[in-house]
Amino acid sequence: MAGLAIVGAQWGDEGKGKVTDLLAQRAAMIVRFQGGNNAGHTIVRGGETFKFHLVPSGILHPGKKCVIGNGVVVNPSVLTAEIEELRRRGIDPGGLRISANAHLIMPYHMLLDHAGEVRLGKLQIGTTRRGIGPCYADKAARLGIRMQDLLDEKILRQKIYAAMEPKRQTLRPFAKDPALDLHTMTEDYRTLGHRLEPYIADTTRLTWEALDRDELVVFEGAQGTLLDIDHGTYPFVTSSNPVAGAACVGAGVGPRDIDDVWGIAKAYVTRVGAGPFPSELDDDIGARMRTVGGEFGTTTGRARRTGWIDLVALRYAARLNGMSGMVVTKLDVLTGIHPLSVAVRYLGPEGASFDEYPYHQSILHKASADYVEMPGWDEDISAARRLDDLPDAARDYLAFVSDFLGVPIVMVGVGPGREQMIWTEAAERYAGAAPLVAPGELP
Ligand code: GDP
Ligand code: IMO
Ligand code: MG
Repeated sequence: MAGLAIVGAQWGDEGKGKVTDLLAQRAAMIVRFQGGNNAGHTIVRGGETFKFHLVPSGILHPGKKCVIGNGVVVNPSVLTAEIEELRRRGIDPGGLRISANAHLIMPYHMLLDHAGEVRLGKLQIGTTRRGIGPCYADKAARLGIRMQDLLDEKILRQKIYAAMEPKRQTLRPFAKDPALDLHTMTEDYRTLGHRLEPYIADTTRLTWEALDRDELVVFEGAQGTLLDIDHGTYPFVTSSNPVAGAACVGAGVGPRDIDDVWGIAKAYVTRVGAGPFPSELDDDIGARMRTVGGEFGTTTGRARRTGWIDLVALRYAARLNGMSGMVVTKLDVLTGIHPLSVAVRYLGPEGASFDEYPYHQSILHKASADYVEMPGWDEDISAARRLDDLPDAARDYLAFVSDFLGVPIVMVGVGPGREQMIWTEAAERYAGAAPLVAPGELP
């Protein structure tokens, strides 16, 4: 047992939170390695729903170390609210650890995110407006403020001043906003710093120690491969790298510390915000996926765009992440749809055909998907717990996906509940030293 990375294989919201929670029962540590509170990870435990934006999805399991790694951008006020909410619901957040090197989202980052989108007008990205892009921009510009800076008032004030100065011109429309007052901001962030101080730690070292003890460490990604700033549908992407390689940088481990990479993909596709989406459905089937799948953003509540599963994009994601396994979630949402379509290549407007994911933005923007059709099924699959419990058509659908990608399917989601998951033998391997807890006995 060592490192397992869980990454989104599409445009986010694939069910990473649910999978991480399930694997956390066997892990010693769960590490979020990128993104911020643009993420929304949902776990449904015994009919009760938990939504996490920053806290790693292992926190519901007592005794696990849940790390917010150096690659994450932290809004300290959102994080403290999340910790308080956990306490209110009787969950001990004592296992939480925050990297001292994680960067902070500041009030001006959120204002700049908002202003940037307004300025782009029709060309806007559709960001979550949580300040993610401007925060990562400051990190790269070496004007970022880090978790450790919260612990020293003088340093904090100096750094806020230095970071705000170059933005004075852009922030002029917000000049009267009390949130931008240097004194108030320093005081507010100092107060939040006091509350978060017990959790701030050298998380890289803690992660090494767990790996060196041969314990299972789950690296939890946010967003998805096609939202990756380098490899996704730029500029309609987030400002970090959700791909598996980023787990090394965002947690502080080497590539050899990661033994397995599991990509999480829905049995169809969704996307929130603008940007190309070749297999998008703008019809009743798309609307049905949205309603049955509850496809409304966890963070912003926006309706998610929906479409058929896209194997051109998924094969790209499989190679990019070095996926050793794939988890297909929300197979239940396809029940009753006939026939099912599976995108296997893209077509350009002039009749060109693309078997591989096009690297050129203009090609991708104009591409439409070419499909093969497969029979659907009508049986309720939400109680399936083994592949054998699925109707033939559902098994054929999964086999087609797996063969096309050349990646084994290790788990299959058949409903939002924790127990609504088919575990294959490959997934059972992660039982490790701790025996697999029967679904009803989960804490
Ligand atoms: P994440 O951001 O990747 O963690 O995913 P989200 O939590 O944003 O969105 C996934 C949604 O699908 C959540 O509401 C989950 O409760 C739900 N979900 C996860 N797996 C399944 C599944 O297999 N079937 C159904 N019907 N819902 C699922
Ligand atoms: P999880 O972890 C889906 C999208 C936004 C927007 C683009 C850029 O829950 O899968 P940003 O605020 O990051 O600058 O917005 O990325 N986006 C997500 N879409 N799931 C997410 O996270 C997302 N995080 C960001 O909608 O299109
Ligand atoms: Mg989400």
